Amino acid sequence: MSNQAASPAATYTLSAATRARFDKETAKYPAEQRQSAVMACLSIVQQEEGWVSGAAETAIAEYLGMAPIAVREVTTFYNMYNQRPVGKFKLNVCTNLPCQLRDGQRALEHVLQKLGIEDGGTTPDGLFTVAKCECLGACADAPVALVNDRQMVSYMSNERLDALLDTLKAAAK
Ligand code: FES
Repeated sequence: MSNQAASPAATYTLSAATRARFDKETAKYPAEQRQSAVMACLSIVQQEEGWVSGAAETAIAEYLGMAPIAVREVTTFYNMYNQRPVGKFKLNVCTNLPCQLRDGQRALEHVLQKLGIEDGGTTPDGLFTVAKCECLGACADAPVALVNDRQMVSYMSNERLDALLDTLKAAAK
């Protein structure tokens, strides 16, 4: 997955390969309900670009035959869509109540302090973006974090968080 920090894109062109991926998603729905694939299309763009720009939203809207504002509503409703460039590794640390009761806030603050950034910030080297998030559906494993929207990490003590950061840094080399 390419989750590289990128400069804000003023334009977005739907490549043949991306269009083919979109086609695969819309094929799952009746033709008159192709707009149901909007979340899948947004996820594909994010996988490929690292974030979803306004230009990409417009391209998705044109592809699905819906108003750009309707795509925007989806992008802004779900916090898994990046509305600006993020670091190579995006860490979301859950701070909802069950995780809070088991040190979710401590886990978030530990990572932020270790990386020297604020909540929602990106390290100067473009490697990490860290932000708190809502419940990830793994409360029993609290405190939990999610790496690049895909990999759940559980029972995040300070030691485990340090090890995770070290592993990701090594993976980036
Ligand atoms: S509250 Fe953190 S995973 Fe549910």
